[in-house]
This record gives sequence, C-alpha cells and structure tokens, in this order.
Amino acid sequence: GDRLLEVAQNADMPLEGTCEGQMACSTCHVIIGKDWFGKLPRASEDEEDMLDLAAGVTRTSRLACQIV
Ligand code: FES
Repeated sequence: GDRLLEVAQNADMPLEGTCEGQMACSTCHVIIGKDWFGKLPRASEDEEDMLDLAAGVTRTSRLACQIV
C-alpha cells in the first residue's frame, strides 16, 4: 500500500503503526505541516477519537495510516 504510514516507514521514519491501520493504536501519529494539512481530507470521527489519546497532539495532527 502507499498510505503515508508506509511511505514514511519506507523512508526510515520511526513510525510504528502497531495496529496496521485499524485505528486502534495511535503509534502512527504524525504532525503535518500547516500548508499540507489544509489539503488533506478531514479526519473521520474515529480518527479524531484515537488522536485524542495520542501523546503530543497538535492542531495539525493526523494518523499516518489514514492518509492515502
Ligand atoms: Fe494504528 Fe494508525 S497504525 S492507528
């Protein structure tokens, strides 16, 4: 697949993605650059809920496994 999660992992970024995209872990939390964030489709409610549990969340946080 080529979700942001895999793209980042392939680029040796230390993203865990423990649940492999099931929105059950939040270890794939990423902070997106402001400019790019506005161009992404909005996070689903499930993603927002999981982000609420992630450490260090910012206004431009996303789950990398949900970004295609
Ligand atoms: Fe677990 Fe993204 S990989 S929420």
